[in-house]
Amino acid sequence: MAFVAVAKKDEIPEGTTIAVEAGGRKLLVANVGGGLHAMDATCSHMGGDLTKGKLEGSVVTCPRHGAQYDVTTGRVVKNVGFAVKALTAGRSAGDLNSYEVVVEGGDVKVRI
Ligand code: FES
Repeated sequence: MAFVAVAKKDEIPEGTTIAVEAGGRKLLVANVGGGLHAMDATCSHMGGDLTKGKLEGSVVTCPRHGAQYDVTTGRVVKNVGFAVKALTAGRSAGDLNSYEVVVEGGDVKVRI
């Protein structure tokens, strides 16, 4: 795995997300309190585009049916298909991958 430059830091103001592509995957990069986080951008429910969802704190809401993910981990916090699973310990079936992010010289890089 290698770090891939996907954006400039100033393209992602605090409290926002952007859509990027790296390693053949569509990713969401979010700025939560000045920290940058990357995760898969495609909802595990029915493929909604999470980059079009609302970010509140570290939680992004899918614009299609309202599933929610923690952008810092990729984990489901509200799974519309399997609500009970989302409350159990460990990874649920709906969790998405998250990716390490670094900023170097103003470039945002994702490890993928
Ligand atoms: S596609 Fe995301 S909640 Fe249904």
